[in-house]
Amino acid sequence: MTPLLVATTNADKLREIRAVLAGAAVDLRTLEAAPRVPEPEESGLTFAENARIKALYYGALTSHLTVAEDSGLEIDALGGEPGVRSARFLGPGASYPARFAEIQRRLAEVPEHARQARFVCALSVVQDGEVRFETTGTIEGLIAAEARGIGGFGYDPIFFYPPFGRTLAEVSAAEKLSVAHRGLAFSALADWLRGRV
Ligand code: IMP
Repeated sequence: MTPLLVATTNADKLREIRAVLAGAAVDLRTLEAAPRVPEPEESGLTFAENARIKALYYGALTSHLTVAEDSGLEIDALGGEPGVRSARFLGPGASYPARFAEIQRRLAEVPEHARQARFVCALSVVQDGEVRFETTGTIEGLIAAEARGIGGFGYDPIFFYPPFGRTLAEVSAAEKLSVAHRGLAFSALADWLRGRV
């Protein structure tokens, strides 16, 4: 089986990625098995740029295929914020309830139908210093009037997905993966991996 280094330090992302790639013919490796290095600066202006920065950085630690992803929440009425700064919105240590409250404050005058938002996940696969595959998954939804649900992670409790009539924190892990950004991007990666063997 092809070794694949999944270069993320985020346990929630890793859990989802493992689930999507469970059926792929790859031997998943994590950063725990790689030399310890500081995290790279995510200086890109887009998810795709940051995914590539991380894949090239961590890919230099190994001869194996290496995948990195960058993801986040874009809210149209906030000009795309928090976007690539989703993990750092209000500071890296800010709680999600505090972030939800600030988003609701900023959206106070925005009617329900104009609260469009999307989650985006860009991934980049690198080997021997070269980009081998890149793709992006997105899911469109609305910012809910209040946080609901205890599943998922991050901004899931305020992301209302109309086809399910629930937030992504109110659905099962499998339901979320079948429609959401990370599930879609890593399914495309699984297809690409299948085509290589
Ligand atoms: P990154 O590590 O710079 O890619 O930051 C991603 C951040 O976006 C996470 O820390 C979450 O705040 C948010 N995010 C990304 N994907 C999801 C998701 O599936 N659900 C909820 N929040 C997410």
